[in-house]
Amino acid sequence: MARVIAFAGSKGGTGKSTLSHLVAHGAGSLPRPIPTVVVTTDPEDLLAEGERRYVVVDGRSPPLLANQLQRLLSIDRLLVVIDGVANRSDVDQILAQIADLVIIPYGPSAQDGARAAANLDGMPLAVGVPNRWPTHPGVAKRAKRWLEMVPATRRLPLLRAIPKLDALLSPESYADIAYEIASPARGLILEILARAAVEPDELVEDRSDTTGLESLGIKNL
Ligand SMILES: Nc1ncnc2c1ncn2[C@@H]1O[C@H](COP(=O)(O)OP(=O)(O)OP(=O)(O)O)[C@@H](O)[C@H]1O
Ligand SMILES: [Mg+2]
Repeated sequence: MARVIAFAGSKGGTGKSTLSHLVAHGAGSLPRPIPTVVVTTDPEDLLAEGERRYVVVDGRSPPLLANQLQRLLSIDRLLVVIDGVANRSDVDQILAQIADLVIIPYGPSAQDGARAAANLDGMPLAVGVPNRWPTHPGVAKRAKRWLEMVPATRRLPLLRAIPKLDALLSPESYADIAYEIASPARGLILEILARAAVEPDELVEDRSDTTGLESLGIKNL
């Protein structure tokens, strides 16, 4: 069985799509890369094209999503990342059933904090991730009350605002930022796998010990 993580929550730019791709990029950027697929489910989204360290597939209608999941879930040593669609409780129900971890991003605002807290109440096994969090001490101090709208036990460590992250979904710009965002991307996927109690090596392809290094251009000695 593949392992599944799903990004869910409200409409309005909390970071579901961006973090789905960031996590997949991180998984594909580990010293031993994890084969990873992002499933796009929002009918309003274009599929992110171009060569990437992961694959993007179309799940933008309920039958397509069901087909993709049926095909992907049976594959061993695969990470499936679902870029969820907001305000679709039918899709949320499916995600809650099949995902090893459901993640709800929320930004530094009262509205985002309240929505994330409400969504988490309805999904007992989901966690929040404070996203685009300010690092400047003064600003971060003010944002603390929004951070704490989600209990500490129900959230991952906060993720800062990462410059140029818009480029991640663009086929033309992905290659330009792939290297510089690899480090925060690896950090995020490792946090998520730890929280989901998934051992990264469990998902690494079984061909040989050197596969991951070779795909990064480092040859066996
Ligand atoms: N950690 C971050 N650092 C910098 N920019 C970010 C970060 N997370 C998200 N963004 C930016 O915020 C914007 C909205 O993010 P995104 O489209 O991923 O949200 P979404 O939850 O998928 O929205 P929607 O509900 O419309 O599908 C994008 O421009 C994205 O680049
Ligand atoms: Mg989106």
